[in-house]
Amino acid sequence: IMTDKQFPKGFLWGGATAANQFEGAWNEGGRGPATSDTAIAVKPEDRKNMEEFAAPMTREKVEFAINDTEGLYPKRWGSDFYHRYKEDIALYAEMGFKTFRLSIAWSRIFPNGDDAQPNEEGLQFYDNVFDECAKYGIEPLVTLSHYETPVGIALNYGGWKNRKVIDLFVNYARTVLTRYQDKVKYWLTFNEINIMGISGYVGGALLFEDGKQNLSDMYQAVHHQFVASSLATKIAHELNPELKVGMMLARMQAYPATPNPADVMEEIKRDHENLFFSDVQVRGKYPAYTKRFFKENGIEVIFEEGDLEIIAQYPVDFMSFSYYMSSVARHNPEAGGESTAGNFSLGEANPYLEASDWGWQIDPIGLRITLNNLYDRYQIPLFIVENGLGALDTVEEDGSIHDSYRIDYLKAHIEQMYEAIEDGVELMGYTPWGCTDLVSASTSEMSKRYGFVYVDADDEGNGTFDRSRKDSFFWYQDVIKTNGGNI
Ligand code: BG6
Repeated sequence: IMTDKQFPKGFLWGGATAANQFEGAWNEGGRGPATSDTAIAVKPEDRKNMEEFAAPMTREKVEFAINDTEGLYPKRWGSDFYHRYKEDIALYAEMGFKTFRLSIAWSRIFPNGDDAQPNEEGLQFYDNVFDECAKYGIEPLVTLSHYETPVGIALNYGGWKNRKVIDLFVNYARTVLTRYQDKVKYWLTFNEINIMGISGYVGGALLFEDGKQNLSDMYQAVHHQFVASSLATKIAHELNPELKVGMMLARMQAYPATPNPADVMEEIKRDHENLFFSDVQVRGKYPAYTKRFFKENGIEVIFEEGDLEIIAQYPVDFMSFSYYMSSVARHNPEAGGESTAGNFSLGEANPYLEASDWGWQIDPIGLRITLNNLYDRYQIPLFIVENGLGALDTVEEDGSIHDSYRIDYLKAHIEQMYEAIEDGVELMGYTPWGCTDLVSASTSEMSKRYGFVYVDADDEGNGTFDRSRKDSFFWYQDVIKTNGGNI
């Protein structure tokens, strides 16, 4: 039945991926190794245990992993998008995608991170990908840095805590922005900029020489990324004011555990920790609560002259975020109930919500709450660039995949997006995560699937890597065709 629940005209329906989990071909086409290539697969029985993922990155670990041929490093082959991009983009066109989110692997362009010249073969690859999108009128949405930092940046610079990395990134950003300015209009600088330091494989490629994470290095690295992001925004706007640059936050909507004011205050603190990143990148200045937060946590950050001016002068044009779950804030965590797994951490379970097989709590209304909060706070266009359900799929004998659980999840979230738009929120688009199955960021499993398109590969990389359409493929095709009208 057609309802009147139409989304705004020009709404950007699509799907999202990232090079480090999707592209594969880690040592082809002149690509250099990336920190993500050192991420070893987590065993199914350890799914809810993020220890390996959250462990700090050390020189020994990286040097060992990058030369290791025995261990299981699934991000090295991903879903083989590198060789199958034409087929993948044709499937997106069949679903009616208006946009396709992908990232550029920095080490495909600058194999060591600091090379004097870019790698032409790498540049050509993305030209081919963008041309293929253009054939179908699909607008690419491109992340410059999505957990795929050249290993050289970690080993030779220690990662983003080193100020020199700003220049290296800006050089990379200038190269690709200049090259693709006529092919790509929408850009994101750093994927989930707040996930810095939680894992060495992601974010800041931070090497902790003594094996211990420290907050000063993490926030120093973030500060460098803020400056670098603003400089990339400046370059984009100088090339063409029509280019739109966004920031990207892993949004963690927190709820107070009880109406106890102490829990409500705890929730505000949690929110500050999360929104700190968008406060800086959207408003162009460090928020008022920074001083106390840095002081109480012993965080020392060196600001160089001119940094704050750059951040103030070039804020982002729009805000994008990933949304998977919400969390519970309690001032006395020891009194909390059962715990649940999260993107990158364990937290208290919300008794009103159900969880995925990986323990991620499912909260569609939380998306409406978050959209309202963010729009109230920033008053700039929002873009949901990740959302979805990681689940185990079963292939039937005839090859079909009945993923009604995925449809239910996405439908519930799209309904809440519609409500938020009715609330007045300006929402640019929606790109569910892993539109084609890809390797998990946290556990490096293939069996944690998000896609509308199935990839015939297992956790060890066995399989044909052939693509097939799940039930959700046809469902999403209809969602896009009716511009949300059939939800
Ligand atoms: C986001 C990341 O945190 O969550 C993606 O930007 C990631 O790279 C996604 O894949 C889902 O997480 P996971 O661990 O299930 O792959």
